[in-house]
Amino acid sequence: MSAGLAPIADPSYYTVSDAKFEDFRRIVEQKTLHEDYPLASSIAKDLIPIYDCPALRAAGKLTPVWSDPANLPLREEFIRALKRGPGVVVFRGAFTNMEEFDAGTKVLEELIQGQRKVDKLVRDENYIVPNTNEHWAKRDPGSYSDYFKNDVIALASGAWLGPWYQMTSQISQCVPGNKAQRMHRDYHLGVGDRFPYKRGDDVISPIAAAVFPAHMHVSSHYMTLQGAIAHVDMPLESGPTMFLPYSQLYEHGYLTSGVPEFYEYFAANHVQTPLQKGDAVFFSPGIYHGAGQNNSGPKTNTPPVDRIANLLQISSAFGRPSDNADRRATTNYVYPHLLEQRKKFQESGGKAGYSDNELWNIISSTAEGYLFPTNLRFVNGIFQAPQNEVVWKALMNGTPPEELAKVLEEEEKLNKNGIPPI
Ligand SMILES: [Fe+2]
Repeated sequence: MSAGLAPIADPSYYTVSDAKFEDFRRIVEQKTLHEDYPLASSIAKDLIPIYDCPALRAAGKLTPVWSDPANLPLREEFIRALKRGPGVVVFRGAFTNMEEFDAGTKVLEELIQGQRKVDKLVRDENYIVPNTNEHWAKRDPGSYSDYFKNDVIALASGAWLGPWYQMTSQISQCVPGNKAQRMHRDYHLGVGDRFPYKRGDDVISPIAAAVFPAHMHVSSHYMTLQGAIAHVDMPLESGPTMFLPYSQLYEHGYLTSGVPEFYEYFAANHVQTPLQKGDAVFFSPGIYHGAGQNNSGPKTNTPPVDRIANLLQISSAFGRPSDNADRRATTNYVYPHLLEQRKKFQESGGKAGYSDNELWNIISSTAEGYLFPTNLRFVNGIFQAPQNEVVWKALMNGTPPEELAKVLEEEEKLNKNGIPPI
């Protein structure tokens, strides 16, 4: 190996052809030892550490200030579990004041009902209200605040991301008969990998995770913490989330969620843990998972369960720039110049003006280039084009500046409202 080149074991890019199923199997076929998680009350299926929050609080090992040194051992176990361990932990009794908790659930149910009235989409998996936190805070700041004063949410968020985190949530409802989700990873790369998106009038197949360098695959699942709070009791037949512990450790995992060998393995080997109302689950967005099928009701001769969970997405602030750039305004300032330069290039046969490649480079440094945040604004399973693609299409069509300005303003509103609006 010549000096300065990365060794083979530390590739700059991951490729599907390098993904070996046997490596994956070796990684996920581990057991979790209780001695590595001494504060856990048990290890479910020899895989998932379960923490008994009322007992930890009583012992002074879970205190209201997440950064309290008394909480350090618990924080360390949590970090170990997500970083090198099974990738998922359960906190039993995260919420214990059921009067407050039920008041919050009532508001969340109203949000679901409100959205269902205007939403014509039939969804056979789970039903989700995007941007729940903002809707909840607007409707009932009291129950919202009672909920987010919770010590476990603060501890998990602070432990994984440090103090600069940003909370969003989506209340999710899954009724008897709802199907299981297919195995997947989550935000960031896991979402782009699953859904197609629009570029101009074309639909681009799911974003190839392989385009991103290897270190961004690793960063992707360090930048976000996923959580689910159970708002009702969720027995196994109601389909609590299916997990494949340790799968977040598989380096090529963003490239293999659609590969049959891998999802067939998931179908045969995933684990589920029944949850009780007030329990919280936290997991790495890199773990293979999926909502389970809701088989409760007559089919299994069990009481029907309307499974309601609040899905927390807690994001690191580290992806944000230091300057508060208004990308729409900047685009509007520069767009007339780009139109002019393109015309010049065409009229001069490429001797003057900007080439298409140069124009794209300018747009990449000017317009918003990411699909999110969009409050789940996707139509028929297709995410709508990000701002840079909208600007590119306008430029190629010679759209006048005032017309593009209106489109960008409208796009911004749609991304804020999501689809459907509530
Ligand atoms: Fe997911």
